[in-house]
Amino acid sequence: MRIDVVSIFPAYLEPLGMSLIGKASRQGLLDVRVHDLRDFTHDRHRTVDDTPYGGGAGMVMRPEPWGEALDALCDDGDVPHLIVPGPGGALFTQAMAAELARKPRLAFACGRYEGIDERVIDEARSHLPVSVVSLGDYVLNGGEVAALAMIEAIVRLIPGVIGNAASLEEESHTGGLLEYPIYTKPRQWRGREVPSVLLSGDHGAIEHWRREQRHDRTERTRPDLLRMTADPEAAASTDNPRFRAAVQRDAGEIWTMARACWVTEARDHDSFEIPALTESLLDVQEWLTAWHTWVVRSHGRLIGSVRARRTHDLWDIGRLMVAPDLQGRGLGKALLAYAEQQAPVEVAGFSMFTGGHSVDNLRMYRRAGYEICGRSTYAGIPTVELYKPRS
Ligand code: ADE
Repeated sequence: MRIDVVSIFPAYLEPLGMSLIGKASRQGLLDVRVHDLRDFTHDRHRTVDDTPYGGGAGMVMRPEPWGEALDALCDDGDVPHLIVPGPGGALFTQAMAAELARKPRLAFACGRYEGIDERVIDEARSHLPVSVVSLGDYVLNGGEVAALAMIEAIVRLIPGVIGNAASLEEESHTGGLLEYPIYTKPRQWRGREVPSVLLSGDHGAIEHWRREQRHDRTERTRPDLLRMTADPEAAASTDNPRFRAAVQRDAGEIWTMARACWVTEARDHDSFEIPALTESLLDVQEWLTAWHTWVVRSHGRLIGSVRARRTHDLWDIGRLMVAPDLQGRGLGKALLAYAEQQAPVEVAGFSMFTGGHSVDNLRMYRRAGYEICGRSTYAGIPTVELYKPRS
């Protein structure tokens, strides 16, 4: 692959001669050429910028040097795919890196100041494939650092650049998921053990654990990726729910979903003085530490949750909720059954409570084996307590 980079700071690109990229160049897998944009100017000051038409802060890169520089890159008739790093571009992803790694020629146009005169990009588009690409939702001083990052991500995917090709298959973002945690010797370090499954020698179990870890990590830290992934395993649904222990990060969504779910109770009881509706986000964050809570996600979206804790010899179950648009498909029943299964062996039975006018809830709990064992009021609202002995 040939890569040309045009910049007013060629020295910024010197790391391209180091490490794996430098080695790939020396092996002939890669031909990297860095060009100084000022070599395409013709005035004494080698000017590359000017004030913006229409006013505004900062300077804009003039079109003439860019036009000449890009013409020079295409003068052998063999055109590169031009990448213009910029915060206003499409987000750079692993999938994009993989696609660009298959091109025989790439060129990076690194802008500085407020950016490059838009006509340069329009003109380039008339005879080249052009992609304006952003490294992320933040602003850098210029395109050089972004070009370095993209080139590294692209070049390591070129066959032969990385010795152990298998390591490419297991890393973060492959298949739309983050990587599983990794460990090496010693087995115990500062009192911390390596997870025992990794020492078991059971390859099936290790593979299963790693798959679960990738899903867990992605769900916890980058649920947005699960929304995009095509991996069917990542897409838990109402008929194949994956129950997970809730973490603090889930608090906001649990709080929001509770509001959406309990608003019908408020209507049925003609009052908003319902705990699930009056509690604050902080309250949810607090009870997440005091209760066992489980959540179900679908494509990264929180679609169900339930909490439970032991009170004497009872397993107290509550905040059973399913996203309003997914109710009536059995997920509530599955969450309740799951919460019951998690009860410690010592408990004799399960307890719940709900509003006295919550007809649908009462029907579902009765079907699940609960019976009314008490009635009272809370903030003027009638409530019923339910009990089910452990079978
Ligand atoms: N130039 C300035 N900010 C940038 C960003 N976020 N990505 C790519 N190029 C940039």
